[in-house]
Amino acid sequence: MAKALILGGATGLLGQALVHVLMARGWQVETLGRQDGNVLDFSFLQSRLHAANADVVFNAVGYTAVDAAEDDSPSARELNRALPDALAHILRGLGNGHLVHYSTDFVFSGHGETPLTEEDEAHPQSVYGSTKLEGEQAVLRVLPERSSVLRTAWLFGPGRKNFVDTIVAACEKRDAINVVYDQVGSPTYSMDLAQWSVALAEKQATGLWHAVNSGQASWCELACESITLAAASCRVVPIDSAQWPQKAHRPTFSVLDNSKLSAFLGKKPRPWPQALRDYIYSDYLPTHRKDKDLH
Ligand SMILES: NC(=O)c1ccc[n+]([C@@H]2O[C@H](COP(=O)([O-])OP(=O)(O)OC[C@H]3O[C@@H](n4cnc5c(N)ncnc54)[C@H](OP(=O)(O)O)[C@@H]3O)[C@@H](O)[C@H]2O)c1
Repeated sequence: MAKALILGGATGLLGQALVHVLMARGWQVETLGRQDGNVLDFSFLQSRLHAANADVVFNAVGYTAVDAAEDDSPSARELNRALPDALAHILRGLGNGHLVHYSTDFVFSGHGETPLTEEDEAHPQSVYGSTKLEGEQAVLRVLPERSSVLRTAWLFGPGRKNFVDTIVAACEKRDAINVVYDQVGSPTYSMDLAQWSVALAEKQATGLWHAVNSGQASWCELACESITLAAASCRVVPIDSAQWPQKAHRPTFSVLDNSKLSAFLGKKPRPWPQALRDYIYSDYLPTHRKDKDLH
C-alpha cells in the first residue's frame, strides 16, 4: 500500500480534500500540521519525514492570507519559500519520496488576455505571489527528479470557508451584494485538484503543472453561479476593483491554461460550473445549506 504524508491535511481546504481522495484510493495517509508541532522547526520536520517514510509528501501548507502577507512578508516567506525548500532538501537527503507542492496563479502579473501556460514568464505583483514563486523554484531546483509543482487558483470545496461559502452565506443576510467583475481567473474544485494531484503522484510526474478546472470566470460570474445553484435569492451588483480596495495587488487576468494536465490525464478537466454543481449539491455541504432542498 502506498503511503502519503500530507502537510495541512487536518485543517486546510486542499489538505482535507487530499486526505479524502487518497484514502478512497486505498493509500495509507498520515497528516502533519501545527497541531503536531512546529513545521518550521526543520529538525522536527526532518524527524517526522524520516519516521513517516512516505512514498509521497503533499505540501498543502501555505501562508494563504494574501492581504496580510503584505504586512508580514517574513512569515509568508517562511511558509511559502523556506518550508518547501526544506521539504525538498530533506527528501533529497533521505534518497526517496516524491514531493507534490502547490503554487498559485498569483505568480503572474495578470496583464494579459490569453490563458497562461507553464512556459509563460511569472511576474508576481504581491508578497504572496513572490513568496509562492520562490517556493516553487526552490522545490524544482533542489529535487527536480522527484517533485511536481501544481499551480492552482480560486479554490472552493468542503472543509474550510471559501469564496463560494462566503457569497451564499452573505445572500442569506442581504438582498444585494457587491462583487468584483474585472478580475478573471480559473475557479477550481479542491476535490478535483486532489484527484489530479494523486494521478500525477501515482505516475511520479515531475515539473510544473497548471492544475485548474476548465473555463474562466470573474468573481462576479462565480458568485452568480453559486447563488443560482444554491437556490439563494440575492442580487449581485458588479463593481470594479477600484471600488473594492485591497492591500495586495490582484492579477486582472490570471486564467491558467490546463492543456499540459489535459494531455497527461487524457481528458480535459471538467468545466468549473460542473464542479461547482457537485460541490453545492454534494454531501459536503456546510450545515447551513444542507437544510435547503437543493436536489
Ligand atoms: N485557496 C486558493 O484559492 C488557492 C489558490 C491558489 C493556490 N493555492 C495554494 O494551494 C495550497 C493550499 O491552499 P488552501 O486553500 O488549502 O490553504 P488553506 O485552506 O488556507 O490551508 C492552509 C494550511 O496551512 C496551514 N498553516 C498555515 N500557517 C501555518 C503555520 N504557521 N504552521 C503550520 N501550518 C500552517 C493551515 O493550518 P491551520 O488550519 O492550523 O491554520 C492549513 O492547514 C497553498 O499552497 C496555496 O498557496 C490556494
